[in-house]
Amino acid sequence: MAKKLYIRTFGCQMNVYDSERMAALLAHHGYERTDRPEDADLVILNTCHIREKAAEKVYSEIGRLARLREVRRRHGGEMLLAVAGCVAQAEGELVAERAPAVDIVVGPQAYHRLPELLARRARAQGAVIDTDFPPESKFDELPRDVTASGPSAFLTIQEGCDKFCTFCVVPYTRGAESSRPAAEVLAEARRLVATGAREIVLLGQNVNAWHGEGPDGRSWNLARLIRALAEIEGLRRIRYTTSHPNDMDAELIRAHGEVDVLMPWLHLPVQSGSDRVLAAMNRRYTADDYRRIVDALRTARPDIALSSDFIVGFPGEEEADHEATLRLVEEIGFAQAYSFKYSPRPGTPGSVMPRQVPEAVKQRRLEELQALLEAQQRAFNAATVGRTVPVLFERPGRHPGQLVGRSPWMQAVVVEDAAVGIGDLAPVAITAYHAHSLGGRIVRPH
Ligand code: SAH
Ligand code: SF4
Ligand code: F3S
Repeated sequence: MAKKLYIRTFGCQMNVYDSERMAALLAHHGYERTDRPEDADLVILNTCHIREKAAEKVYSEIGRLARLREVRRRHGGEMLLAVAGCVAQAEGELVAERAPAVDIVVGPQAYHRLPELLARRARAQGAVIDTDFPPESKFDELPRDVTASGPSAFLTIQEGCDKFCTFCVVPYTRGAESSRPAAEVLAEARRLVATGAREIVLLGQNVNAWHGEGPDGRSWNLARLIRALAEIEGLRRIRYTTSHPNDMDAELIRAHGEVDVLMPWLHLPVQSGSDRVLAAMNRRYTADDYRRIVDALRTARPDIALSSDFIVGFPGEEEADHEATLRLVEEIGFAQAYSFKYSPRPGTPGSVMPRQVPEAVKQRRLEELQALLEAQQRAFNAATVGRTVPVLFERPGRHPGQLVGRSPWMQAVVVEDAAVGIGDLAPVAITAYHAHSLGGRIVRPH
């Protein structure tokens, strides 16, 4: 009988990709996925360390699972508990010390060794820990039979980060920046399309820093890779995330104007609109640099929509800095954004900087910023009403007969129409907008 595997994923899209790869690897070792943790022989928590709240969630989840395991044991069953991802990498054996219920701790660059770790755990007492940055690439060790789990598929092409922003744990949890070779990316993309993907979202902590040797022996950048991917028959949409402003080179900007399957949408985190704060964050661009990049993108692709990340209350942030952020947001106009209160992370330079901002001030600044960003998002969605936009349908909606897809600008679009199915790309006349989605009807050719 197949053993059952339950995976819960926290954090970014790269963790979502890694979870899929862990499931595929373990499928080769007799594990079948379940969405009921109480039935699982093996539970993997794929964790995130980016903010304190994200990391703390993991420990409460471990507590809940340990109780489920007790119930299973009373019925003669077992449940192994593995912690993977960025908390595993950052805290290592501390995870097992703090949560003795944990059997395996495995970092994001070592999870191809899970079968071996499971075998070691079966022989040993106590938790087994593997947070190496092994010399071999996990991508070379993982099974190649990647399949798309839906019309939109993630593909990690770049990992790690060398930028060391002073607030961020990623360079420590994911290690040094590295790119997968172009041939490997192209092969995986072809398999994804052959198994049903219509859209590929290229992933990396600094995805636009991707560079590698092309099949032609020359050095490729992301723009060149996107042009090669665009040739894959059946691939209708390409996106990439997350980009750093400093790696938005001229060729990549030009590709936005020239490659029609490259979607007019870009997540380009700015973090702050204050040059003083940006310098303290070690972002290595100014607010005006960011404005110039956005201008160039809009010149190349006038309908491009922008999304961003913001941190409020970085140490030393004054009222004037906060106002500079609000001003930048007003000038640029974002279609969508994530904003966070600064969370001091152990081991990062920001956490020991003087002039930490009080919680109440962070809260107020966050509310001001979010009110502005939400108004921009509403205005952006409202402006789509009355237009006809291409929608790629990805999943069933909440109510029977509904399908949900995405516009080129990442808006969720809901229709009720039996004549289209998941994986179809169809024009939709947008008739309504709600807080988190648009409504419309399929436009039929005359
Ligand atoms: N590589 C991406 C960001 C990855 S982390 C980039 O350079 O933009 C995702 C987002 O989490 C960041 O953009 C930032 O806004 C937020 N974040 C990271 N560390 C944080 C911290 N210590 N406190 C609050 N937000 C943080
Ligand atoms: Fe973190 Fe992004 Fe900065 Fe790298 S570039 S340190 S991932 S915020
Ligand atoms: Fe979190 Fe690690 Fe991603 S810290 S945001 S899961 S890279």
